[in-house]
Amino acid sequence: MSDTPNPLRDPRDKRLPRVAGPSVLVLFGVTGDLSRKKLLPAIYDLANRGLLPPGFSLVGFARRDWDHQDFRQIAYEAVKQHARTPFREDVWTHLAEGMHFVPGEFDDPGAFEALAMAVKELDESRGTGGNYAFYLSIPPKFFPQVVEQLQRSGLAHGDDAGHEGFRRVVIEKPFGHDLKSAVELNDTVHRVFPEESIFRIDHYLGKETVQNILALRFANTMFEPIWNRGFVDHVQITMAEDIGIGGRAGYYDGIGAARDVIQNHLLQLLALTAMEEPTSFSAEAVRAEKAKVLSSVRVPEDLSLATAHGQYSSGWQGGVRVKGYLEEDGIPADSRTETYAAVKLEIDNRRWAGVPFYLRTGKRLSRRVSEVALIFQKAPHLPFSLTDTEELGQNALVMRVQPDEGITVRFGSKVPGTSMEIRDVNMDFAYGESFTESSPEAYERLLLDVLIGDPPLFPRQEEVELSWKILDPIEEYWSGSRRIEQYKSGGYGPDSADELMARDGRAWRRL
Ligand code: BG6
Repeated sequence: MSDTPNPLRDPRDKRLPRVAGPSVLVLFGVTGDLSRKKLLPAIYDLANRGLLPPGFSLVGFARRDWDHQDFRQIAYEAVKQHARTPFREDVWTHLAEGMHFVPGEFDDPGAFEALAMAVKELDESRGTGGNYAFYLSIPPKFFPQVVEQLQRSGLAHGDDAGHEGFRRVVIEKPFGHDLKSAVELNDTVHRVFPEESIFRIDHYLGKETVQNILALRFANTMFEPIWNRGFVDHVQITMAEDIGIGGRAGYYDGIGAARDVIQNHLLQLLALTAMEEPTSFSAEAVRAEKAKVLSSVRVPEDLSLATAHGQYSSGWQGGVRVKGYLEEDGIPADSRTETYAAVKLEIDNRRWAGVPFYLRTGKRLSRRVSEVALIFQKAPHLPFSLTDTEELGQNALVMRVQPDEGITVRFGSKVPGTSMEIRDVNMDFAYGESFTESSPEAYERLLLDVLIGDPPLFPRQEEVELSWKILDPIEEYWSGSRRIEQYKSGGYGPDSADELMARDGRAWRRL
C-alpha cells in the first residue's frame, strides 16, 4: 500500500468524521434495559451515520435460549423504538448481518470458549482483526466472574498497541458502593485488564452540553477572568428528574440518589466547572486537573447543616396520580433509601475558597432539568433608587445540560419607560437554533470512543476514588438517621433542602 495520504481522506483534516476501525463489540447483559433503550439504538445510529466499519460485528451474550435471529429481532425492536436517527432498511440489514448471539451462563467456561470461537470466526469472515471490546452491562457482582472467564478463555489478551488486536473492557457505574468496594472492584478488573484498556462509562461525559463546559471556559476569553471567587457568589449543580424509579427497584433501593447520581454525574460536572485549564485535551491532562480539583473538595464539618435528603411520597405529576417510593413494586415498606439528595461542598483552593458548590438531585420533581449555574456576586453599589431595582437578582450564567440544551446569561436591564426601573432579563444561546445538526446521544459518542480507543471522556479510577472519599462521610451520616423526610411527588423536594440554602441566605433556582 502506498504511504501517500488519500486526498479524499486525509486524516489530518479534522473535519473528517472520526470512524471506528475493524472491531467486534461483545455485549454482556444484552437483555437489560440499558441495552434495549440506549446501547443497541446508539450502535444503529453510529452505523447510520457511517461511523462504523463495514465488517463491524456485534455479539450478544446472555442467559437466554436464543439464536442469532432472536437476537436480531430484539435489536430490531429496540432500534425501531429508540434510535435517534431515521430507520433505513439498508443500514439495518447490513448491521444485522454482523449480529451474532452466544447463549451462556457467566460461570460456564464452555460458554466463553464458544464466545472465543465466535469472535475468531468473525475475524476471519468479516475482517475484524482480533479487535474486541467487552461491554459489561451487567450487575457489578458478576464482574469478577466475567473478567476471570475472559482471561481464562484467552479473550482478554492482546494489547492496545495493535498486536493481535486490542482488548478493551467497558464498565458501567456504579463503580462500587463506597471507597472500599470501589478499590476492590478496580483490583478485580485490573487483575486482567490494564488501566488503559478499561473504559468506565459516566454517560454525562458523553453529552455534548457537558463537553461544552470545557469549550465555553477554555476556547473563549470573556468567561475565565470572572470564573473565580472574586466574582462568583456560589454555584448550583442540579439534576432533577420528573420520573420515579420505574422498574429499577432491585438496582435503586439501598443505593439511593447520592450514590446513583452525585458520586458520578454531579461530581464530574463539578470537576469540569471548577478545574484549571488542562495542558491539552489528552486523557492524562484532563484527568490530572479533575483529580486535582476533586482532591480539594471539602465536605463541611457539620453535615446536619450541609446536607439534605428525602424520599418521594405519592402525588400528582402531569395530571396523573403517582405512587410514593414506598408503594413502588419491590421496595420494602421500611426502606430509608433517599430519592433526593442535596449537599453543600467547599473547594479549598485559591480560585474557589469561600464559594460554596450546592449539588442537588431528585426523582419525581416538578420538571426534568440538568444544569450548572454560576451565580455571581451582587453589584457592589447600585446608583439607582431601591424601588427601581426591586426585581433585580444576581447575575447568573447557566449551562443547560438538558432538556433544552444551551447557555443562558441573566443580567439586569432597564425596563422601557421614563423611569430607571431595572429588571432581570435572559440572553439565550440554544443549540437547536445555532446548529442544524442535532446532538448525538451520549452513548453514541462514548461507544465510538471505546472502539476508536480515545479515553478523555472516561473517568479514571483516581477520580472514582476521590468521589467516594467525598461521599462516604455523607452516606455514613445519613445511615445513622432513623427516618427520612418525605416530599410530595411533582414538587420541589424536601423542605430541609430549602432550609439548607436559606441558612446561607440563598435559594435554589426554580425548577
Ligand atoms: C442514570 C441514573 O445514571 O442517569 C438514573 O442511574 C437516571 O437513575 C439517569 O435516571 C438520568 O440520565 P439522563 O441522561 O436522562 O439525565
